[in-house]
Amino acid sequence: MPATLRCAVIGTGGIGLDHLNSFLHCRRAAVAAIAESSPERAKEASDRFKIPRSYADYRELLEQPDIDAVTIALPNYLHAPVAIEALKARKHVLLEKPMAMNATEAARIIDTAKKMRRTLMVGQNFRFDRQTQIAKQFVQRGDLGEIYHARAFWLRRSGIPRTGSWFTQKKLAGGGCTVDLGVHMLDACLHLLDDFEVTRVSAQTFAKFGPRGLGELEWGRSEIDPKKTFDVEDYSVALLKFKSGKTVTLETSWAANHPNDAREYGIDLLGTVAGLSLYPARLFRSGPSGYETIHLAAPKVPLNEDRIQHFVNCVLDGKKPLVPVEESLKVQKILDAIYESAAGGKEAKIG
Ligand SMILES: NC(=O)c1ccc[n+]([C@@H]2O[C@H](COP(=O)([O-])OP(=O)(O)OC[C@H]3O[C@@H](n4cnc5c(N)ncnc54)[C@H](O)[C@@H]3O)[C@@H](O)[C@H]2O)c1
Repeated sequence: MPATLRCAVIGTGGIGLDHLNSFLHCRRAAVAAIAESSPERAKEASDRFKIPRSYADYRELLEQPDIDAVTIALPNYLHAPVAIEALKARKHVLLEKPMAMNATEAARIIDTAKKMRRTLMVGQNFRFDRQTQIAKQFVQRGDLGEIYHARAFWLRRSGIPRTGSWFTQKKLAGGGCTVDLGVHMLDACLHLLDDFEVTRVSAQTFAKFGPRGLGELEWGRSEIDPKKTFDVEDYSVALLKFKSGKTVTLETSWAANHPNDAREYGIDLLGTVAGLSLYPARLFRSGPSGYETIHLAAPKVPLNEDRIQHFVNCVLDGKKPLVPVEESLKVQKILDAIYESAAGGKEAKIG
């Protein structure tokens, strides 16, 4: 393995630019190329980040022998096909969330990575958040006692990605706010609990704003459908039951009439000794002088590694990623079960 990892970014829309920005701070990697189907966005990214080579067709990029690894920041329906082709071309892969359109696709990506002996990681950025990492230390030390329930939520009042973009089309995104926002809080919550063994899911989904053309946020730069298709959910609620007996509620919205005096996204862990809430990180417990709230202020120091740097270090040092693919597959199965339960009007079972 070379001392510097030679990387490429596939898809330079909203989050692909974020990947390129992260690479600027990554001393052990260099971005040799991008692949982007839109000529304007390819030029914008190449000019801004001084990328030497740009390909309109990602397949041509994958043929390049001097690329060791790729990050994939494409619409969700392209995650599995492009990741599988990249792995078969012997590239290490960092894949944006959600991992795939469903668990069958996710399992295929994992099988290919194993067969090709390449590093594969889903870029769940909240695991790299300083607050999450502080919370994880408290949980691991046992400061909360037994954690029996958690609430995970991301509740936007008015934040539907551009209506008619790939985000709002089921065949291109797989789902709406649940796979877009909910997956972040779900993954971070299960990571904190260190428990991914969900066996039963009861969920409901709604689409109350998107179909009326309300609640839009300007995000999502590709695949704009002139018919402004909106056939995904803009609100969902789910009760997850674990093999261990604990429970998690996951609530997500792109648009809803919420109060604006609360956190937009967060995780609350209920333990027998203390409770812990994110974001920001606070611990609640009964102390000698009554019930106390301890602010677990994250020092304003840069992270050791963000997800891109972590992925690069894992490839170069042969380390196991902080986001193991087996856990990403379990998260994907839960997402599938949420839609199955909502569509069938009854509890969905996993595994
Ligand atoms: N981790 C996060 O916080 C985060 C935030 C936003 C989006 N995402 C994820 O990142 C992915 C991309 O989202 P986005 O917001 O950047 O979307 P986007 O629409 O802004 O960008 C997608 C880009 O892919 C390009 N593209 C489409 N088909 C292509 C192809 N065949 N070959 C090359 N380029 C192609 C488009 O032209 C566009 O520039 C999604 O999976 C999304 O869920 C993650």
